[in-house]
Order: sequence, then structure tokens, then C-alpha cells
Amino acid sequence: PLSRSPRNRWLKIPDDEKGYELDLFCVPKHYEEDLDRVIIPHGLIMDRTERLARDIVRDMGGHHIVALCVLKGGYKFFSDLLDYIKALNQNCDKSVPLTVDFIRLKSYCNDQSTNSVKVIGGDELSTLTGKNVLIVEDIVETGRTMETLLSLLSECNPKMVKVVSLLVKRTPRSSGYRPDYMGFEVPDWFLVGYALDYNEYFRDLGHICILNEKAKVKYKV
Ligand code: IMP
Ligand code: MG
Repeated sequence: PLSRSPRNRWLKIPDDEKGYELDLFCVPKHYEEDLDRVIIPHGLIMDRTERLARDIVRDMGGHHIVALCVLKGGYKFFSDLLDYIKALNQNCDKSVPLTVDFIRLKSYCNDQSTNSVKVIGGDELSTLTGKNVLIVEDIVETGRTMETLLSLLSECNPKMVKVVSLLVKRTPRSSGYRPDYMGFEVPDWFLVGYALDYNEYFRDLGHICILNEKAKVKYKV
């Protein structure tokens, strides 16, 4: 995926990616039976996030940014991305004031995206009127969550809206929506870890991993 500008580039994880054996890394004991392979080790997530921070500051720098975290799945990526932006602010000639906002959306049950995206908490979006907003999301699958949020947000007339998603899934269910910045493009697998959950489990796992079929049954609601 080589395209014109760096912000349109991402790291592609191929369909035949084997990942890494679990016991080469540290994984919580309580999840050892539930996971098949490590797909994106925590260190690689951090390294890619550092570069996304640089691309974002280069494009949005000079303006005050309101970083809008999409809870709950986005919280780890949000926190690490903002740490990298903070580090740039401290060490570069150019710096951007950052403020934070949170919104809670829910669209998933078990490993299936449902058709309805619900806002179930967070700040009033009306505070974003006239602001430069950076939406920070964990993963885009069908694109429905992001399209819903973007249309809600547009009613509040922000000055600029950019979206960064750590992951984008290659799936025939995609609406075609693409975020402005993306960390990794991943195969059509259900992934957990680094705040991505399966019915609230696996947020307390550092690496991004594939859940096995047994675990899907074990944690089903
Ligand atoms: P979309 O609306 O289909 O794009 O789905 C986006 C939301 O579904 C994300 O914000 C996640 O919360 C959730 N999601 C999608 N795929 C996965 C996955 O593989 N693991 C965990 N959560 C996922
Ligand atoms: Mg999410």
C-alpha cells in the first residue's frame, strides 16, 4: 500500500500471517488457554503509534487538537498515542495544545457487529463546535460505528475532523469507509488485547492476539 502521502500508509498484516507462538511472549496466565497466537506484539504497536503521532502532528500541528477517545476499546491506543504526541510537543519547535474528550459507543455482541450503534455515555458532543477534533478508535470493521459518530459530530459543526484507528479490518462487510490515519490493516479475524475485548474480557492483555474457538464459547453471553 504505497500511496502519495505518508498519512495514507499503513502496515499490512497479510492473510497468511502466522504471528508468534504465545510462549515466546508474556501473556497473563488466565488467558493462556484462550489464545492461539500473538499477532501484533505490544512493542510493535508502540513503534507504529509513535510514527502515527508524528504524522498527525505534522498535519494538524499549529491548531489546538481535541482528542476524542472512543471508549472502551480505544483507551490504550488513545493513552499511548497522546503520550507520543506529548513527547513531540516537548521536544520539537512546533507544538500543539491538546485537550481530551471521551465518548462511549457500543455495537458489538459476542464476535458480531450488530446493526445498531449506540452512544451510551461520555461528554456532550456540542462542546466540539468549532474545534479541530481527532477521533481515536481501536478498530474499524464495517465502518458503521465511525460513520455514525461522524454524522453525529457533523451536526455540531466542528472546524475539522480527522480519524485515527489503530486497526482496520479487511472484510467484505466493510462499507468502504477508511480513516485518515491507520496503524495496521488486519485480516478478517476477531482480535483481542490492547483494550480490544470479547464481551469485556482481554482488555488486560498487552499484545493483540487471535482468540480461539473454545474461548469464544467460554466467554459467550
Ligand atoms: P464497525 O462498526 O463494524 O466498524 O465496528 C467497530 C467496533 O466494533 C470497534 O470499535 C470495536 O469496538 C468492535 N470490533 C470490531 N472488530 C473487532 C475485533 O476484532 N475485536 C474486538 N472488537 C472489535
Ligand atoms: Mg471501538
